[in-house]
Amino acid sequence: MRFLNKITSLFSSDVAIDLGTANTVVYVRGKGIVLNEPSVVAIGEKKGKKSVIAVGDEAKQMLGRTPGQIQAIRPLRNGVIADFDVADEMIRKFIYKTVGRNSLHHPMIVICVPSGATAVERKAIREAAQNSRAKKVALIEEPMAAAIGAGLPVSEPSGSMIVDIGGGTTEVAVISLGNIVYSRSVPVGGDKLDEAIINYIRRNHNLLVGETSAERIKKAIGSASIPVSGEGEKFEIKGRDLVDGVPKEITVTERQVAESLAEPVSQIVETVKIALEHTAPELAADIVDRGIVMTGGGALLKNLDQVLRQATGLPVTVAEDPLTCVAMGTGRALEQSSKYEDILSSDY
Ligand SMILES: Nc1ncnc2c1ncn2[C@@H]1O[C@H](COP(=O)(O)OP(=O)(O)OP(=O)(O)O)[C@@H](O)[C@H]1O
Ligand SMILES: [Mg+2]
Repeated sequence: MRFLNKITSLFSSDVAIDLGTANTVVYVRGKGIVLNEPSVVAIGEKKGKKSVIAVGDEAKQMLGRTPGQIQAIRPLRNGVIADFDVADEMIRKFIYKTVGRNSLHHPMIVICVPSGATAVERKAIREAAQNSRAKKVALIEEPMAAAIGAGLPVSEPSGSMIVDIGGGTTEVAVISLGNIVYSRSVPVGGDKLDEAIINYIRRNHNLLVGETSAERIKKAIGSASIPVSGEGEKFEIKGRDLVDGVPKEITVTERQVAESLAEPVSQIVETVKIALEHTAPELAADIVDRGIVMTGGGALLKNLDQVLRQATGLPVTVAEDPLTCVAMGTGRALEQSSKYEDILSSDY
């Protein structure tokens, strides 16, 4: 029997999934991360019948560029599933892409959920994973996965603070003894930063730019703090003029972009400060020693660590590879499922 178990585990394709608002990352047991693609699905309609045309990278290219009969959809908003059928298709396509449609046996799937997710939202995520013919589905809280991925000592009697800034949400959590002692989530993440850039350019330049262009600006010259002097770096961007309706190119500066980001950045900082106020003194003392660890793509926003350091007076570090940290942590929980038994939950 043990031999048989060993043989099946050789062919096993158990997976861990970080189903994010912006990106889905899939980790396969024994292999590590095998897929990291945008959470976007392109749906086509022919004679009233809908079908998936593309997922991931290919579908993201189509965002905002589709003709009438094709729709590029992001099935997750604010960290939770907004369009169940499309999310379901997307998860299935990603799993088949990584482990194959006819993998030798049905995989075990560990999938993470935002800590603020409701019972209904957890059920939706669980069902989406089950529909990919999983033999067992376990859920893990996203900040816990982020902390494991960042190498924090989550099982020890010592407080760690994790700030995960994703596309849809920012989650702040204090973890000790394998539990989330406190967590707070706000629907402010990379998407809200992109939106703030779009609104700024519309108001000040009468130019309409798409989500993808705004994200490009943010990654190129976005900053959480306004340059001490001057305009900082410059970036050229194209969009549609709102007055005469024609395509136009303008130049935005680092200062302008930082000004547009000030409001959502302050909401992130405020969430961290509130979490610190709610932390028990012993755990707070641990956080003073260890500092705050940032994960998620939003942690890459220039100077955000510095702004958080100034606002809290605490050491702030960005985890190594913040975009894959949650998937790495979810993967580690899958690989060492007996060690993390209490952290993985199968009974929502
Ligand atoms: N260099 C960068 N500077 C600023 N933002 C960045 C950078 N790189 C990526 N991002 C942003 O990070 C976000 C994606 O991060 P991540 O993949 O962690 O989110 P997610 O896990 O999909 O979302 P969520 O956890 O909210 O469901 C996007 O909004 C993206 O624009
Ligand atoms: Mg995430």
